[in-house]
Amino acid sequence: MARSRLSVKRVALAALAACLVFPCFSVAAQTAAPLPSPPPAEPPAILALGGDLFLINRAHRISKTYEPDDLVTPEVGTRKASLKDRILMRKAAATALEDMFRAAFQEAGHTLFAASGYRSFGIQQILYNSKVQEVGSREKAERRVAPPGSSEHQLGLAMDVQAPSELNLNTNFGSTEEGKWVAQNAHRFGFILRYKEGWREVTGYSAEPWHIRYVGIAHATAIFQLDIPMETYVAAAALLPGYVLTGGSHPLLAGLIGPMAAGETPEALRSLAGAKAAEREERLRAATAPYLPEGTSYEQALWYAYPTPRPTAGPRVDMDEETSLYPDTGG
Ligand code: DAL
Ligand code: ZN
Repeated sequence: MARSRLSVKRVALAALAACLVFPCFSVAAQTAAPLPSPPPAEPPAILALGGDLFLINRAHRISKTYEPDDLVTPEVGTRKASLKDRILMRKAAATALEDMFRAAFQEAGHTLFAASGYRSFGIQQILYNSKVQEVGSREKAERRVAPPGSSEHQLGLAMDVQAPSELNLNTNFGSTEEGKWVAQNAHRFGFILRYKEGWREVTGYSAEPWHIRYVGIAHATAIFQLDIPMETYVAAAALLPGYVLTGGSHPLLAGLIGPMAAGETPEALRSLAGAKAAEREERLRAATAPYLPEGTSYEQALWYAYPTPRPTAGPRVDMDEETSLYPDTGG
């Protein structure tokens, strides 16, 4: 009995996550009675929950003219030298990509290449049209290439990554040593594998082990640990206050979002939005307690800063101050 209730909840949550990809109300809208009724709600242009947790897919499209204002060229290798200056990402994602490529080499001797970053609406249109021509139908094309306006490459937060042994982007990348390293380590730098094997019903796309998406270290690590598609994560995350999503560390996020994503929302987390601030905090604190690492308080987990800043030079020594403070020691 308990099991069947659980599976009903799972099905409901999967349906909710699927609605985040494929608009679910189109049939109802087409067959609606011709009585005065409010116009059908348009899907939001972009579902932004805070930080870099923007969900973009076929149900949540981005405007034709959207172009991030902090695009830069990441200092990383490309297979063809001519690509180098044409690859762009948003600043934070570019820095994280540089850190990740450097770590792949230093930690495991792997060389990674960047293949495709920011793509404008127009470029995505060209890619999409040529895929439709190549495979003969929009339906087949849309398993591989997002229609313009629904690609997260337009956000400037996605990158396609290659190994030296692969000439083109293909699923072999997932079986290369480089691809395995990326799958296991990308979250440390704030990236998730967005389209994994077995997630097509939810994401809408076949597996793309080469496509990584920047969401920040906290969400990336929580998503990696929970091993769920971004749509499922976001559907549950949307029930939490924004400050938890922007400030929370991965144990807090995984602890709160994991059960909700599995369709087992604890009573304490239901209708949080309607609760008064003090009660909401009380409920969040109680729901998170079992998941916090030993010695970590709720406050520490909620105001956690990633990444830990690293020194870029030796400690600064102010010689004048030292001289005046210790005149007798000569320095
Ligand atoms: N290949 C991914 C889904 C894109 O076109 O954005
Ligand atoms: Zn991609």
